[in-house]
Order: sequence, then C-alpha cells, then structure tokens
Amino acid sequence: MPHLLVTGGAGFIGSEIVRQALDAGWSVRILDSLRADVHEAAPTLDDRAEFAFGDVRDEETVARSLEGIDAVCHQAGKVGLGVDFYDAPDYVSSNELGTAVLLAAMTRAGIDRFVVASSMVVYGEGSYRNEAGEKVRPPARRVTDLEAGFFEPLDPATGTALIPELIAEDAPLDPRNVYASTKLGQEHLASSWARSAGGRAIALRYHNVYGPGMPQNTPYAGVASLFRSALARGEAPRVFEDGAQRRDFVHVSDVAAANLAALDATASVESSSFAAYNVGSGVVHTIGDMAAAIARASSGADPVVTGEFRLGDVRHITASSDKIARELGWRAAVDFDAGMAEFATAPLRSGRS
Ligand SMILES: NC(=O)c1ccc[n+]([C@@H]2O[C@H](COP(=O)([O-])OP(=O)(O)OC[C@H]3O[C@@H](n4cnc5c(N)ncnc54)[C@H](O)[C@@H]3O)[C@@H](O)[C@H]2O)c1
Repeated sequence: MPHLLVTGGAGFIGSEIVRQALDAGWSVRILDSLRADVHEAAPTLDDRAEFAFGDVRDEETVARSLEGIDAVCHQAGKVGLGVDFYDAPDYVSSNELGTAVLLAAMTRAGIDRFVVASSMVVYGEGSYRNEAGEKVRPPARRVTDLEAGFFEPLDPATGTALIPELIAEDAPLDPRNVYASTKLGQEHLASSWARSAGGRAIALRYHNVYGPGMPQNTPYAGVASLFRSALARGEAPRVFEDGAQRRDFVHVSDVAAANLAALDATASVESSSFAAYNVGSGVVHTIGDMAAAIARASSGADPVVTGEFRLGDVRHITASSDKIARELGWRAAVDFDAGMAEFATAPLRSGRS
C-alpha cells in the first residue's frame, strides 16, 4: 500500500483528498496545524487516516511526518484575498516558507513525488482579445471607471472593452495580490526543487472551488459561501459589480480527483520535471448565475446586484482545462446546476474571524 502525506488534510479541499485517497487504496497521514482562524471547532477527520498535529514550517514536525511516506500532496496554506497588507508576512510565511521547509525535508528523506495546490490567481486578469482579434493584456482597472459602474477591462490603445477568453497554462503569469504572489512562489519553489533534487512535481491551478465543507464566516471565505450564509440568514445574496464577472466553478470532489490523478502521474513522469495544470470545469458561468442558482435551490431571496467593487478583484478569469484532460485523463464530472443545488443546503465549516 503506497503512503501519502496530505498537508492541510483537515481543510476544505484536503479532507476530500484524504477521503478519496483512502478509497483509492493509499495509506494516508494528515499534517495540519488546525489554524484557529479557519477551524472554529475541531474538524471531523476520516478515522482511517493517521493525524499529525503540527505546522509545515516546523522542521522537526515535518521530518517526523514524512517517515515512511512515498508522495506528498501539499494543501496547507493561508487562503483568500486577505484583509489588508498586514496579512502579507503571514501569507509569505504560511505559503512560501512552509513549502520550502517541506521540500527541503522531502529531499533529506529521499521523497521525490510532490503535488501542490496552486490557483488561477497566478494569471491575474484573465486572457482577452481586442475587436481586431489580437491578444491584449489589460492594465489594472481604474477606480474612476469602477465608480462610474464601468467594469470591463479596456483596451489601452482604443479605450474599448476587451473580449474575455479561456486562459491556458502558457499564458503570462501576473499575480496581482500578496496571496497570488505566494501561490506563484510555491510553484517556483516546486519547480526549483524538481530540478535540483531530481523531484517530480505537479502544480494544480484550481479555479473557484465550491462544495460541502466550504469555510464560512471567515475573512477568507469564498463568494459561494458568502451567498449561502446570506440566504441562511434570510437575506438576499449581494452581488458586486454588475454580476457579469465570469468564473469557472469547480466542485471540491472534482478537485480532489484531479489531485489523485496528479499523484498517480508523479509515479511515472520523468524525474526533475515540473508541470502546471488548470483545474476547472471548463464551463463559464457568472457570479450572478451562481448567486441565482443557490438562491433558487434554497428557495431564498433573489440576488441583489449592488455595483460595489473590491480593487483587488479581477473581472473575468476562466480556464481551459484541456491540458489536464489530455495529459492526466482528468475531467470535471459534477454539473453546475446539480452541484449548486447540493451546495445550497450542504453543511459548511465555521471559522473564527
Ligand atoms: N478554496 C479555493 O477555492 C482554492 C482555490 C485555489 C487554491 N486553493 C488552495 O488550496 C489549498 C487548500 O485550500 P482550502 O480551501 O482547503 O483551505 P482551508 O483553509 O480549508 O484548508 C487549509 C488547511 O491547511 C491548514 N494549515 C494552514 N496553514 C498551515 C501550516 N502552516 N501548517 C499546517 N497546516 C496548515 C489549515 O489548518 C487548514 O486545515 C490552499 O493551498 C489554497 O491556497 C484553494
């Protein structure tokens, strides 16, 4: 039986990976520090897995938790957009230092299979073309445009709205906030480690993950969970901008399955290799669609479009997930309407803010 370490295995995505890995025949150990800001109460863990309480930044804990391990799936980290810039040291430490300590310990232990949770945020604004069909990288949106209710990124040459398209893995990387920069930092560390230590590393760039167990009431909660919480309070979901922001919503069970496919692949890819894959459903929806789907499924109030905005938000970001289908044989299986209907009443996880 192969042995897997899942860091962050008590979290939203990690716990689903743990469950699927156990079902697939892995022996699983979880390493998790049970961060107080994301776990209000002790999480319920799959009792088939071994649990190691500790921090990925702690060398001794990590060395101990790697004993007898064949492959590592690294989910531990600080997630979300952050509250303000004072969060920066915690992001860099939790995400980049944590990954560096883990990879150094793996090298010492002779473990060469590594899968890391990355994110669509490494791309910044998504991919766009102008009216002539040429690719254009949009500059950051201007506050005056946003305040005037004009949300589409503009072609700097003509001032006309750009047309969004699906983004592929070879698109330029352009992290636009601290969290995004640390997710890209984790990818760079994984690729440096693969080269210098002969490792086999895969980074999975998750798009908007949703599903049962999603965190709520934390400063880092995703938008799907904020809408759910509003509906549970009997309020209408408040949709920012004009609700037409395009996203790719992917169910947590599909994301876990992508991790298992990537872990399998690390057994056979060349040593000293690194690859990054988008993990999305491949189907474009808007934030407004999502709010409406959850409201419908819970028979709640219709969403209200508020025109509010957050400066760090990107307008559209949707992925092509063709590369992972072609190379690793993974495709999302959960349909948007069915997934959102289930999510509308699924249990969520509380955290302290
Ligand atoms: N949820 C999403 O939509 C999404 C999208 C893209 C990428 N990701 C990435 O997926 C991974 C998992 O995210 P999630 O949504 O499950 O978050 P989560 O907060 O539910 O889970 C993260 C887990 O890691 C643990 N943890 C945090 N720092 C740790 C440390 N230093 N040492 C040990 N354990 C630590 C936490 O206690 C928690 O159990 C993260 O790396 C995140 O950046 C998530």
